[in-house]
Amino acid sequence: MGDAGTSIAIRSDRTGLAGVTPDSGCRKGVAANTPSAAGGVESPIVQTSVTVNGAPREHDVEPRLLLVQYLREVVGLTGTKVGCDTSSCGACTVLVDGESVKSCTMLAVQADGAAVTTIEGLAGDDDELHPVQAAFREHHGLQCGFCTAGMVMATVSLIEEIPAPTERDVRLGLEGNLCRCTGYHNIVQAVLAAADAIPQTAPETTKAAP
Ligand code: FES
Ligand code: FES
Repeated sequence: MGDAGTSIAIRSDRTGLAGVTPDSGCRKGVAANTPSAAGGVESPIVQTSVTVNGAPREHDVEPRLLLVQYLREVVGLTGTKVGCDTSSCGACTVLVDGESVKSCTMLAVQADGAAVTTIEGLAGDDDELHPVQAAFREHHGLQCGFCTAGMVMATVSLIEEIPAPTERDVRLGLEGNLCRCTGYHNIVQAVLAAADAIPQTAPETTKAAP
């Protein structure tokens, strides 16, 4: 659920691609700071291997790069949103090895070796919506949609943990995910409907590697 995963909370300086370097051939474990041509000190880089939505990815990144920045700005998957950058809103929720994690609270290098699922990885190969996505659409569980990717990912994790949640389970389970639009009623109805639908229809939440 939205609060699961690492407890590390790290602020970002929101410098876009500053945390990633072109493939430099540097291997994992390179940690020494390097003098720059200008006489300053460049950040070290670390080779990071992450499976994202079933596809293996390798990039050399700065240790300060947040997972959400990595997903959006390096991998190019912008479905995961940044609402607060301070571990408060849950808009950035993804699955890391099946557990929901606020990806603004985790460094990309901490995901090394892990399997990450984003909202783009939920639909089936034929683009059939995941039952949670279908339930949010059917029950009008969104308005502006900014919170929706995080809500959906947190819901997938919640239902895996509690296959038949009560309304109280849903409200507690999603308390780390904020919505400014809906008043939550339709979201709760969508989650309950998804939980009913999933035993019959749920596809894998992480696609198989090609
Ligand atoms: S952007 Fe990560 S919790 Fe708000
Ligand atoms: S639908 Fe707008 S923030 Fe949730």
